[in-house]
Amino acid sequence: MTLPNVHLIAAARPNFMKVAPLYRRLKGDRWCQPILVHTGQHYDAEMSDAFFRDLELPPPDHHLGVGSGSHAEQTGAVMVAYERLCGSAPPDFTVVVGDVNSTMAATIAAKKLCLPVAHLEAGLRSFDRTMPEEINRLVTDALADVLWTPAQDGTDNLLREGVAAERIELVGNIMIDCLEMMRPQIDAARARRNMAGGAKPYAVVTLHRPANVDRPDSLERAVVAIEQLARRFEVAFPVHPRTRERLGRFGLLRRLEACAGIRLLSPMGYIDFMSLVFDATLVITDSGGVQEETTYLGIPCVTLRPNTERPITVSEGTNRLAGLHELDQAIDTALARRQAAYHPPRFWDGQTAGRVSDSLRRKMGR
Ligand code: UD1
Ligand code: UDP
Repeated sequence: MTLPNVHLIAAARPNFMKVAPLYRRLKGDRWCQPILVHTGQHYDAEMSDAFFRDLELPPPDHHLGVGSGSHAEQTGAVMVAYERLCGSAPPDFTVVVGDVNSTMAATIAAKKLCLPVAHLEAGLRSFDRTMPEEINRLVTDALADVLWTPAQDGTDNLLREGVAAERIELVGNIMIDCLEMMRPQIDAARARRNMAGGAKPYAVVTLHRPANVDRPDSLERAVVAIEQLARRFEVAFPVHPRTRERLGRFGLLRRLEACAGIRLLSPMGYIDFMSLVFDATLVITDSGGVQEETTYLGIPCVTLRPNTERPITVSEGTNRLAGLHELDQAIDTALARRQAAYHPPRFWDGQTAGRVSDSLRRKMGR
């Protein structure tokens, strides 16, 4: 009996940890054939291959090789390449994850061929259309047939936009499945680090949002804030390629390299990065995924943004939003909150891939 083909679209760093637990679950459930499609949006070994290795994903079945470009160039390249793939080997269903350009592009290409699409991590809204991801979320959710939300606020956003309730299903947070799937390897990496004597309290920093890093004035303010942070904590800062390029271009890289107490690192693989986060006193970030991981782990987090599409990390979790000018105060509030009694949000339980597999199976009548 031939199994139906389900394309899983992976493109950029935050997609790999959403696709990996679902791929593993669908393979194990054996009612469909999951097919990995890598668009190539992220391509450096440390932004892509390292995650396939860490997360034990096989090489992609199809690699579209689109690479970097302007928003229109990148979106258009994925649409052209994915349309071609669907023409030669049409899937029975396409699953897109997250909110990167490839998520939206694959959805548009598939829907114009009248192919069914499901969006995992649907319904997130920052209500800030200066964020490219917000455009991607709106377009993807307008077109996808099935909308799997990570939390009730996502479901509420979609209902408010007039989406029919039958298209929406609250399945929980797939990032937590990945974390639980990799916990033994993360714990082993923590043990190795502790044996090597890395016991000092430290803060982890990640930054890559265009609003923080693309302009010299905002990036310089961020550099000043990280220098100030280094007076209170040892700082580990794995630098995203966008940010490294901007730091170099704006003449700020040497300054950070020269600052005592700051360790500038290359982008880290998932296991090493999570092992660092697990034992951190504090995380300063503008990442979407890191807001969720710190909330799940109960680690104080300050998000350097005026808004978040993941409000539950603030209302129920350990996250605080702050501008650079109010960082010190936000750090104190975030650290004080650590003591409070705390439970992860509903359905952030490592069982999301199972709920997604069951939902897809029902939709496909298998
Ligand atoms: C993309 C996503 C963002 C996500 C982030 C996760 C969009 C609009 N943005 O942002 O939502 O949070 O990924 O990390 O889809 N580059 C490299 N090597 C790579 C990839 C990129 O050097 O492997 C450099 C290139 O100079 C490129 C720049 O980073 O132009 C930006 O890459 P791009 O994928 O366009 O956006 P990100 O900032 O990575
Ligand atoms: N991450 C990683 N190594 C790093 C930085 C981040 O493995 O050096 C992981 C981390 O688990 C996080 C995920 O990458 O959840 C999200 O990626 P990113 O912050 O690039 O994207 P976003 O979630 O903001 O879209």
